Amino acid sequence: MNAAAPPALPGKIAPLVREFLDTPGAVHDALDRFGSPAHLVFPQVFTDNLERLRAVLAAAVPGYRICYAHKVNQSRAFVRTAEQAGIGIDVASEAELAGAIGAGFGPSRIEVTGPKGEAFLRDLVGAGATVNIDNPWELRRLAELAGGRTPVPVLVRVSGFPGTPVSRFGVTLRQIDEVLAMLAQYRERIDFRGFAFHLDSGEPAERLRAVESCLALTERAYEHGLAPTVLNIGGGFRQVFTADADAFDAYVLALRESLLGHGEPMTWGGNTFGFHLDGGAVHGTPVFHKYANTVPADRMLADLLAAGLDAHGGRTFGQVAAENLLEVWLEPGKALVDHAGITAARVEFVKETADGSTLVNLDVSRDTVTPADQEVMVDPVLLPGAAHAHEAGPVGVFLAGRLCLERDLITNHKVWLPHPPRPGDVVVFPNTGAYHMDLSAARASMHPVPPKLAVAQRPGGFAVCRDEDYEPEAEARTSRHAAGSEWHEVR
Ligand SMILES: Cc1ncc(COP(=O)(O)O)c(C=O)c1O
Repeated sequence: MNAAAPPALPGKIAPLVREFLDTPGAVHDALDRFGSPAHLVFPQVFTDNLERLRAVLAAAVPGYRICYAHKVNQSRAFVRTAEQAGIGIDVASEAELAGAIGAGFGPSRIEVTGPKGEAFLRDLVGAGATVNIDNPWELRRLAELAGGRTPVPVLVRVSGFPGTPVSRFGVTLRQIDEVLAMLAQYRERIDFRGFAFHLDSGEPAERLRAVESCLALTERAYEHGLAPTVLNIGGGFRQVFTADADAFDAYVLALRESLLGHGEPMTWGGNTFGFHLDGGAVHGTPVFHKYANTVPADRMLADLLAAGLDAHGGRTFGQVAAENLLEVWLEPGKALVDHAGITAARVEFVKETADGSTLVNLDVSRDTVTPADQEVMVDPVLLPGAAHAHEAGPVGVFLAGRLCLERDLITNHKVWLPHPPRPGDVVVFPNTGAYHMDLSAARASMHPVPPKLAVAQRPGGFAVCRDEDYEPEAEARTSRHAAGSEWHEVR
């Protein structure tokens, strides 16, 4: 292996975040003030992501709505930013609903997704939010509870499209007639707005098939005397983690070689990352394949809206939606927070293990920067502490977490740092805003959950505050779309 150019996984970092990281002392100061480790969110990057999706929709369809999928991050700053920007919000629990209302969302801008139990359904009757129905029981129960009140606006989530893996969510295509009959029966209680889907996969062909199915269902709904006006295509618009796809491929190649015993060892504890070793070859798709994506969310969306539909004489999805007066709704989570969050931790100490590996122990645990089953394939950024003069690097290390558990390795793949780290140095994990920060964060060993901070670029430099104290007014004034926007997504 060429020591001058070790395998690298350079992460894409938003210019604003890069500027913050490059501001001398900025990250160290934030950790001194609020404690280490900490999550930092950048609402202005959220706004930039939003503007890009809006521009695509505005160019392709006359009516649309973006509902920020709150579940991607607990940050109140993001929710306030979404509220201020005039978009909608997708909430999936009582607590998220309360958070949205507390951040200023009125019911007409709230969509409630996910499976809902009896207590939640009771709360939703009369609340005015649009309820995204998961199953026939939910619809029937909502209709029963809604008796004598204002009709409950609902979308019906559909799943089980041809060629799509089975999902635990949604009404299956087999149940559609039963559901349409119920919608017709309960039209005084239920205000049916249209069909919805959300696919876990980022596969464009799967999403297009789901669109085609939902358009066909929309026509079937007309036959039942219903008048749907919405097609909700969910989230699933991908993130771009890598700054250099060739470097990513080269790293994965070196990793595969190392699994076969060639070159320098690159994995901790016999981890194979989902690859299968068979007959002297490496097969399969690694668990970290999302890090290889190079197609940004706005392009995915633009391509979907411009895709020709066979059942509609090749007319594009955008055209068909416009001709049928269908609003296109979106529930992006990760696409809105892409590059809008980082996690910073301090180096506690560096040690050598029996097999000669170097472990860099941090004051953070794996579950704080990634869901346990997901390996982070982006190089962290090392910010040296002021007092250290560093010797030359690079040095290949594994990053270890603070829990007293063998499995608390933050990286199970070898990471090359530009120079040997020292206690007090800061390690920044880029792009942790989408699910990484909150999805599996636990209070194991009774360590407190790291604080969440909001960072904003102001005329005099960067301002850092607690996430819950962040107010987006300044950004809203400068936003291209903000003028007069209380709720103007749908035109
Ligand atoms: C119903 C629904 N909509 C939207 C999302 C957001 O998905 P993503 O973050 O992939 O955009 C999710 C995520 O699980 C979801 O369940």
